[in-house]
Amino acid sequence: MIITKLIEDNDELQTLTKLQFAKDIAIGLTAKPKIISSKYFYDTKGSQIFQEITKLEEYYLSRSELEILEKIKNILPDLIGKSEVDIVELGVGDGHKTRVIINSFLDKNIKVNFFPIDISAEAMHLLEKNISESKNLNVHAVVAEYIEGMHFAREHSKNRQIVLFLGSNIGNFSKKESQKILKTIKSILKKDDFLLIGFDLKKDIDLMTNAYSDHEGITAKFNLNLLERINSELGGDFEVLNFQHRALYNPELGAMESYLISLKEQVVTIRELKKKFKFDAWEPIHLEYSFKFLEKDIQDLSIDGGFKRISNFKDGNKYFIDSLWQV
Ligand SMILES: C[S@@+](CC[C@H](N)C(=O)[O-])C[C@H]1O[C@@H](n2cnc3c(N)ncnc32)[C@H](O)[C@@H]1O
Repeated sequence: MIITKLIEDNDELQTLTKLQFAKDIAIGLTAKPKIISSKYFYDTKGSQIFQEITKLEEYYLSRSELEILEKIKNILPDLIGKSEVDIVELGVGDGHKTRVIINSFLDKNIKVNFFPIDISAEAMHLLEKNISESKNLNVHAVVAEYIEGMHFAREHSKNRQIVLFLGSNIGNFSKKESQKILKTIKSILKKDDFLLIGFDLKKDIDLMTNAYSDHEGITAKFNLNLLERINSELGGDFEVLNFQHRALYNPELGAMESYLISLKEQVVTIRELKKKFKFDAWEPIHLEYSFKFLEKDIQDLSIDGGFKRISNFKDGNKYFIDSLWQV
């Protein structure tokens, strides 16, 4: 497997990425209320902990989506109808679900060029354990943000593309941001290319809340790791034990929200920012939105993005939808 790091290999880009991280943390911790983007969860340790989350009983998302992919795996090769295809995946993680899709193409003797894209280099190492190259499978991993990675894949191969955007990653974006990213995705695709996109559906609030607040505390460890990342990469002195993870469903927004709550009044110094940040007792840092969807929201987004919706596929519990769209 080739790994191209659009983020980490190039000194200039690495410096820019770190500068952006530093800038976002400085802005986010000065904002009222304090906020940090969820894309910063995924350093090496964050990606490893996320892999643990996908195996939790409470985290129904991965299990439900895997069930759907198993059900529909044979539909995709027939739809593509070519002897060679490019599968591009946005935010691939460890790729354990993607393996099912890729194998369905290989079983039908279709050559696959797989372009897994992830902001985290560690995701690619986890992926290597699940997906290995073979005679009909080339893997070209790209460590990059979603859109930069898509441009890279387009420049490197010209076959019909199927883009996978699984795991309800789209739920981390607000409606406006989702509309924008979907339009951008469409602008990179060509006529007849496909997008298979995962949406976590609105459901019982306890079920959703438990998925982001498991009883073993793995999700808490995942969220708190962001403070450790700031400590190690930016010279912060966060005392992780002075913060608590809380996940709540906001029914007005239709989103799970994750917070870290400061358990006491405290001051945190971040050396590389040359700044101190004051926290009141019980003050939150907002870390993540995970928007939940109705079927009509999915229909609206496909129209806003300019795609033709081919079909919605659900798991047996009707917890999750993978929606297949075409340009
Ligand atoms: C919630 S995990 C889902 C992983 C996988 N799709 C799944 O369904 O199991 C999100 C993944 O997207 C990656 N990611 C988050 N924001 C990203 C961005 N802006 N560009 C590229 N990758 C991103 C993370 O590193 C992580 O591996």
